[in-house]
Amino acid sequence: MNEHYRFVNTPLPYPYSAMEPYIDEKTMWLHHSRHLQAYIDNLNNTLSKYPALRNWTLEELIMNTASLPEDIRTAVAHNSGGVFNHQFYFSNLANPAQQQPFGTLNEAIRNRFRNYASFQAQFKEAALSVFGSGYAWLVVNAFGELDIMTTGNQDTPLPLGLSPILNIDVWEHAYYLKHYNVRADYIDDWFHVVNWNNANKNYMRKTEMAASGSSSLAAPSKPYALHFQTR
Ligand SMILES: [Fe+2]
Repeated sequence: MNEHYRFVNTPLPYPYSAMEPYIDEKTMWLHHSRHLQAYIDNLNNTLSKYPALRNWTLEELIMNTASLPEDIRTAVAHNSGGVFNHQFYFSNLANPAQQQPFGTLNEAIRNRFRNYASFQAQFKEAALSVFGSGYAWLVVNAFGELDIMTTGNQDTPLPLGLSPILNIDVWEHAYYLKHYNVRADYIDDWFHVVNWNNANKNYMRKTEMAASGSSSLAAPSKPYALHFQTR
C-alpha cells in the first residue's frame, strides 16, 4: 500500500484460498476486495476535498483526527481505521502457520498471561465480548507490557498510545459465510492461521524502539476496554 493519498488496495501476499479450511476463500475475497476496498475508496473520496491532507500518512490521519476539518473528521476516523485495522488483520494471517507463539513474543506472553493456553482463553473471551462489530487486539501498552483489549467498529488502539501486535476482526463479514453466527468457531479456526512470525516481528520492533528511546508511545487519552489484567 502506498503511504498516502491516493491509497490503493494492494494484493494480499497469499491467494484468497490460502486460509482454507479455517477461513474460506469467498470470505477472504469479499473481505479484501469489497470491504477493505470500500474503506479505501471512501477515505480517498473524503480526502479529495482537502488537497492539504493528501500528504498525510494513514497513521497521521488516525492519530490527528481532532485537528481535521470538522466536516470530514468522522469519515476520516472511520475509514482510516477501517483501512489500518484490515491491513493489520490480513498481514497477521498465514497458512500453514506456527500453531503457537515463539521467540521473544512467546516469552512475553508467558510472563504476562502465564502460558499460551491461558492467553488463548483470555483472547478468545475478549473477542467474544465485542458487542456488535469490532476487533480484539494484543497490544503493548505505555509501560511496555502486553495487554488484551477490544475496540468497537473501526476504532484503532493507536490514538490510545498502544502498539498493536495482533488483531482479530470480529465483524460478521469476517466469518458469516462459513461460521454463520457462531463467532466462537471462527475464533477457534482463526487461531490456526495466526502469523506468529509477523506478530513476533511486530513485538520485536516495538521493544527495540522502546530500548532505543524512539518510542512514540503516549499516555492513553481516553479509557479503553482492557481485559483480564493479570495483576
Ligand atoms: Fe472486516
